[in-house]
Amino acid sequence: MEPHADIAVVGLAVMGQNLILNMNDHGFTVVAYNRTVSKVDEFLAQEARGKKVVGAHSLAEMAALLKRPRRVMLMIKAGRAVDDLIDQLLTVLEPGDIIIDGGNSLFEDTIRRTKFVESKGLLYIGTGVSGGEEGARHGPSIMPGGSPSAWPHVKPIFQAIAAKVADAAGGPEQSCCDWVGEGGAGHYVKMTHNGIEYGDMQLICEAYHIMKDGLGMTAGEMHHVFREWNTGELESYLIEITRDILAKTDDDGTPLVDKILDTAGQKGTGKWTVISSQELGIPITLIAEAVYSRCVSALKDQRVLASKHFKQGNPKFAGDRVAWLGDIRKALYASKIISYTQGYMLMRAAAQAHHWNLNYGGIALMWRGGCIIRSVFLGEIKKAFDKNPDLTNLLLDPFFKKAIKGCVRSWRKVVSTAVKKGIPVPALSTALAFFDGFRNARLPANLLQAQRDFFGAHTYERIDQPRGQFFHTNWTGAGGRVSSSTYSV
Ligand code: 6PG
Repeated sequence: MEPHADIAVVGLAVMGQNLILNMNDHGFTVVAYNRTVSKVDEFLAQEARGKKVVGAHSLAEMAALLKRPRRVMLMIKAGRAVDDLIDQLLTVLEPGDIIIDGGNSLFEDTIRRTKFVESKGLLYIGTGVSGGEEGARHGPSIMPGGSPSAWPHVKPIFQAIAAKVADAAGGPEQSCCDWVGEGGAGHYVKMTHNGIEYGDMQLICEAYHIMKDGLGMTAGEMHHVFREWNTGELESYLIEITRDILAKTDDDGTPLVDKILDTAGQKGTGKWTVISSQELGIPITLIAEAVYSRCVSALKDQRVLASKHFKQGNPKFAGDRVAWLGDIRKALYASKIISYTQGYMLMRAAAQAHHWNLNYGGIALMWRGGCIIRSVFLGEIKKAFDKNPDLTNLLLDPFFKKAIKGCVRSWRKVVSTAVKKGIPVPALSTALAFFDGFRNARLPANLLQAQRDFFGAHTYERIDQPRGQFFHTNWTGAGGRVSSSTYSV
């Protein structure tokens, strides 16, 4: 058969299959390939029946069906399997062809793979694809990075199949896909998206915990609260699914959520975000707490034992329920602003370290639709960067500054009452602690520097001398005059 297909997708698990069907809907001819080839035949006979999808039973057959430059998208498990497949593809592809990794790969792997594939004369794209099964089928958010010269060849397909959102200024719809940057930039932005996803989910869970234990509300009652919240500034996919989860009953008519074991799983992208933040020295405290909260939840047996030793007092919040719900909504909103502020601080630092020219408003637009963190709120972030592309910190944007100021009282009330009542609110409280630290012009790190200098001659800078001059004090009179060298993370 003549080479006539537009793109190949390798890996026929849920995401791969749905992306193929989405590409088919937009007029592209797709070659489907899977290592276990029986899956190819099953897919063609069932989900892809009657569509312009061509099956291949080997990588060589797949390559022969593709127009040049060939575009091959991998939708397989991140890790070693991607490297193995790249090695195999290099034997059937030619210089100029494009390998695309659409899995949740570690950005450092994508940097390495881009260099390796380019060294063989081919082009590489590592792209985030977010939105789960439904997103893949009807419009995901797509965050591609890698070899810049590959982008024009992939752009028409990716921008066609991605989610679309209305332009805030009333212009034409925009695609939730655009070029992110070189090397691992696309996967870095997807990793940050996932970190923020962890944060949003944890914040919602803490609000739920307060409503359940502090206000004594049932799942049905909370369903109504989330329904209302989804009509205001918190409107988002995660609030929407929480609303629906709370309404779902089990076979016996009781809320299903109450029967689900309270131990959270994780596949690692949240952890990677935190590791990267540690390496760059950026305090993404909320995402870190969200990751650790999943770890605490996983200690179920130990928690059950500890609960017998440390009995909780009465967790009930005194006062008017409706007023508390308003306060909780504001605490959640303010914390969400902090989380995105931290996420954007991280991306800015990573862009500097890796020489990526990230478009922060463009990233907000890509996340505005299709992905798991899609929300009205991201439209406001887009506006903030449109107004000021050099905005260094989201908190300093007039819209977010006003929004935080309008929430502070409620936020403090909710966090302090939860602390008093023994309801854990790690994400809500770390957000507030970050806010108080960030807005404080003088922190107690002067004492910390003195301590470091006292025991290790680590030196300090002085407020009455120019920055960059370091001093050492012989605090006890017994130490030497030699100070240790300085370095910072
Ligand atoms: C997405 C999601 C997805 C992620 C799952 C599971 O953007 O569609 O982020 O990529 O893999 O949400 O993540 P955890 O198992 O780590 O919760």
